[in-house]
Amino acid sequence: MPKTKQYINDHKDRFISELIELLKIPSISADTAYKNDILKTADAVKIALEKAGCDMVEICETPGYPIVYGEKITDSNLPTILVYGHYDVQPADPIDLWDSPPFEPIIKKTDIHPEGAIFARGACDDKGQMYMHVKALELMTKTDQLPCNVKFMIEGEEEVGSNSLVWFVKRNQKKLSNDVILISDTGMISNTQPSITTGLRGLSYVEVVVTGPNRDLHSGLYGGAVANPINILTKMIASLHDENNHITIPGFYDRVEELSLDERAEMAKAPFSLNDYQNALDIAEVYGEKGYTTNERNSIRPTLDVNGIWGGYTGEGAKTVIASKAYAKISMRLVPNQDWEEITELFTKHFKSIAPKSVTVKVTPHHGGQGYVTPTDNIGYKAANKAYTETFGVQAIPQRSGGSIPIVALFEEELKSKTILMGFGLDSDAIHSPNEHFGIFNYLKGIETIPLFYKYFTEMNS
Ligand code: BES
Ligand code: MN
Ligand code: MN
Repeated sequence: MPKTKQYINDHKDRFISELIELLKIPSISADTAYKNDILKTADAVKIALEKAGCDMVEICETPGYPIVYGEKITDSNLPTILVYGHYDVQPADPIDLWDSPPFEPIIKKTDIHPEGAIFARGACDDKGQMYMHVKALELMTKTDQLPCNVKFMIEGEEEVGSNSLVWFVKRNQKKLSNDVILISDTGMISNTQPSITTGLRGLSYVEVVVTGPNRDLHSGLYGGAVANPINILTKMIASLHDENNHITIPGFYDRVEELSLDERAEMAKAPFSLNDYQNALDIAEVYGEKGYTTNERNSIRPTLDVNGIWGGYTGEGAKTVIASKAYAKISMRLVPNQDWEEITELFTKHFKSIAPKSVTVKVTPHHGGQGYVTPTDNIGYKAANKAYTETFGVQAIPQRSGGSIPIVALFEEELKSKTILMGFGLDSDAIHSPNEHFGIFNYLKGIETIPLFYKYFTEMNS
């Protein structure tokens, strides 16, 4: 048996139990109540990198949560791979919809993961995928196969916008210099059809508040005579899409790049079953922008979605009330060339302009980032494809994803290098949802495939 396979076979139980320990720490970046757990996780990642063979690991303080930086520099003439990942996770709520507690990982078999999957918040996004890289480094150092230099940069604020990472990258260009950036924080088509993510959408995330009367009112005494902020807000939100599900904000589509028919035909070749998609979600029909397929709607087209909406009385029973305020959190997924700051401005201007005089509107930008597309004719892509082809027995398919990792566009700007997105998750792994999980097959396949990327990238570079 080749060295890599043998090593994985001999150590896979430990690989799994180490990941399970990491998943037990609730490193939720959105909620300051978990600050100590965030710091604990950063320490655990530091120790793991040291054990895996890094020569130098440090916890880098930032204005926010720390970044764990580690490196193993073998020879400055050899190429350097910079691995990025995040140790923070999404909040677990709604907790009651989990079949087992989110921070008490368990292994269960599913139809898609007959070998079992680890169920826990962060299992796939991104602790599990990040940890594959730590174990791949261990494997390469222990079996004497590390062909190049490696740097690790693992952050704790990805799920809340990566503000501190932006700060860190801008101040550490030299330290972070590299020949390619490698990230596993995306997905692939299926366990028999790997894919390489060649695009990510940008994001503009805002919060809106509509204020009517200066206090909550009796809905009988005042109802019908003053604007109800919740009624108004929902009407304003509804008007943001037209009957074809196009977004109505003036200028929103100005910079959107239309793909050619050839490019769209190429995209349509990726295996996809609309029936399976609908069945997996228990929906009778998909929904979206007229003129585009499901895969186009969730990757190459921009969108606008309400992520949360609240106001008035939502407790038990009934209370007759017209609330003074109504709130919503709204995200816009953007495609390359759309500028997130410009879109945030267009949204703000338009949203204020459609409000009736009877209310006031406040829009607060949360965070955002640019989209990303990468060509497939570079060494990084070719090395990744060769690695997947060897471990899966089929070529990887390039695919643009609908998700966002805003920091990737910044890496290109500040560090002048390409990012290769080698994701091993599946859409059905329920990231950000209750019962998030990561297949054992996927975890181990990642650990097997990553060293081959190092090998082929180094070979192709010399
Ligand atoms: N790992 C995801 C992004 C992702 C997942 C991209 C699957 C492609 C496929 C990342 O952790 C994430 O959730 N990003 C956020 C944006 C961030 C600024 C909060 C997102 O996409 O909502
Ligand atoms: Mn992630
Ligand atoms: Mn995420």
